[in-house]
This record gives sequence, C-alpha cells and structure tokens, in this order.
Amino acid sequence: MQVTFYNFPKLHDEEFQKEILSRFHEIISTNAFVEGKWNAAFETEFAELQQAKHCLLLANGTDAIELALIAAGVKPGDKVGVQGISFYASAEAIVTVGAIPVFIDVLPESGLMDPASLERVLQKHNLKAIIPVHIYGQPADMPALEKICLPRGIKIIEDGAQSQGGFYENGKPIGSSNNITTFSFYPTKNLGAFGDAGGVTFNDDSLRQPLLSLRNHGRSPTGTLLVGRNSRCDHLQAAVLHLKLKTINHFNNERKKIAEKYYSALKGLPIRMVPEKYLHLSSWHLFPIGVESKELKYKLKDYLTQNGIGNALFYEKALPEEGPIAHYEGEREQSLLFAGQTLCLPMHPFLTDSDIETVASVLKKFF
Ligand SMILES: Cc1ncc(COP(=O)(O)O)c(C=O)c1O
Repeated sequence: MQVTFYNFPKLHDEEFQKEILSRFHEIISTNAFVEGKWNAAFETEFAELQQAKHCLLLANGTDAIELALIAAGVKPGDKVGVQGISFYASAEAIVTVGAIPVFIDVLPESGLMDPASLERVLQKHNLKAIIPVHIYGQPADMPALEKICLPRGIKIIEDGAQSQGGFYENGKPIGSSNNITTFSFYPTKNLGAFGDAGGVTFNDDSLRQPLLSLRNHGRSPTGTLLVGRNSRCDHLQAAVLHLKLKTINHFNNERKKIAEKYYSALKGLPIRMVPEKYLHLSSWHLFPIGVESKELKYKLKDYLTQNGIGNALFYEKALPEEGPIAHYEGEREQSLLFAGQTLCLPMHPFLTDSDIETVASVLKKFF
C-alpha cells in the first residue's frame, strides 16, 4: 500500500511506547487494574478539553450510548430517533435498552441528521429521545435540533464517537452542551485506547451518580441503587488515553491541515466533499467523499486499491438497510443514497504532501 488508511506505527512511536510501558509497569507494581489514578486524571482533563462539567470513562462507546439513554429516562417501549448514517451501534444501543429506533433522514451534503426530516417524523411518532451523530467528526446542527426537541421535552443524546476535539458551529467543543454526549475510544478513533474504551460528558450534576452506578453494578456510596452492569474502564486503557490527551490538539490540527490540502488538491473533480464550513470545526476523524452512484463508488474503490491507496466504506449500508433493524419505521431515502455514494480516503495526522499528491493524482486519473 502506497498510502495507508491509518498509521499506527507513527502514532505509537518509540517515545510513546517508552512512556506507556513505564505507566504499565507502575500499574502492574501497584495492582491498580481497574479505575485507577489515570482514570481520574483522564476524566478531569477530558472534561476540560471538551469544556464539560463531567466526564465518566466507560468500557466502550456502545455502552456509553446505552447508559446515556437509560440515564436520560428512556424506558423499554419508548421510541428513539436515530439518523440513518452511522455505525450500527448508534441504533443497536436503542434496541438493547428495549426501546424502538425510528429512522431520521440525513442531509445529502454531510450525512448529518436533517432537522426537516425530524420534524416530519415527529408528526407520526412520539419520540422520547433522539441520537444525532457528529458523523466523521462534523458537528450536527444542534441549534436546529434543540429548537425542535427542547420545547417538546425530547432528550438528546449526542453520539460523539468520532468527534473528540471537534467543535460545534458556535465554536465550543463537541461534548460541552447540556445534552449527554457519548464517545468511543476504540483504537482507530482520534483519541484511541489499546482496546475498547468509551465515555460520556455532561453538565447536569444530577446525572453523575446514576451514571456512576450504572457503570458499576448499580453501586453507590450508600448501597446498591439500581440494576446496572459492568462498564468500568480498565486502568491500562485509561493510562493510554491520558497519555494521548497530550497530543490530541496537535494531531487534530494536523488532520485539519491535511483536509485543507485535500480540498485544494481535489478541487474540480466530480466528487462531494464535507461542506467547507466544517473545515475548521470537524475533528476530521475521516475524509469521506461522495460520487455519482453506487456502481461508480465500487469501481473507484477497486481502482484506489489497485493503485495502493487505502480506502474504506463508512458506511457500506445505511442503518435502515441493516437486516436486524431494517424493519423499523421512519425516513430513509437520503440515507440510502448517501451510503451508496460514499467512500473514505486515507486520513491520519501523518499524511505527507506527497501522500496527498499521490491520492489526488490517482483520483484524477480515475475521473
Ligand atoms: C458513530 C459511532 N457510534 C458508536 C460507536 C461504538 O463505539 P464502540 O465501538 O467503542 O462501542 C462507534 C464506534 O465505532 C461509532 O463510530
């Protein structure tokens, strides 16, 4: 592969490995395997980064959505709106808490939740909550969604799995809002552990104890509060995440510079790129492009692979096309089109100018 999709060897270079191994030795020698000092340090510093009052680490990003739904008061049988473009877990979590997903369509230019579709869906469905996803790192249109939801008492869980270090349109960090925002720290994310990890940020003090209890078998300092689960984050993962916090801003800035370079290198090609207004807001977790049709997308995919350019389909299917959840109601037309047309190019902080030129020249030859 000439230009790889990710670059873990550069991310986990010798210096990083030295520091992380010394943290691991300390954890081994103190037997502090779960919820240790790096968990607490990460929670404090990640909350500061995202300008949220609280951060709690959890076992993974899917648990984060499930626990956020439960903490927001979603009960079995309630309906929860979710956009048609996301990772499967955004909808799966609704089902696993016993609620019913209702699909909200996406904006064709971004894959973000379409407020007009939400308005239409609300004419037919009584939603208890919605899950807008800051997909690819772009910010969802929170002012428009909150304007629809807040007067009706509809709770908002923001799926920020892909948006660590990204910003809303008002310039504040994603995760700083008065909703619960969920994060995944899966290894490929901008801020990734050495395995599974996730977390939530929120400002409402009254959510802290229920969420703490939910992640630890319902326990509280005064006894068992509720039926929870084990969603604690290992100390080893917290140690990795805390160390990576030092570089997240720098690496996100590198991603932004790369996105700008892609923008100018790919200008004029018959492709859809992320709307320009998100250039300085997105965390640039991924660099999606859209082409005219599904057939063309698969041809392009093959061509990129043959020419040594890493690429991936996020997402090959829209959520309403995923077998186990395809029967749920709602709107889906734009989501299906978007998934059909979208393919992601390499995006990581170590792409060089020559990598970008290589990707651009292969794309130009294809078109
Ligand atoms: C948008 C989105 N939501 C939820 C998740 C689930 O996170 P995890 O894999 O940590 O459970 C992911 C992770 O891939 C994601 O990208």
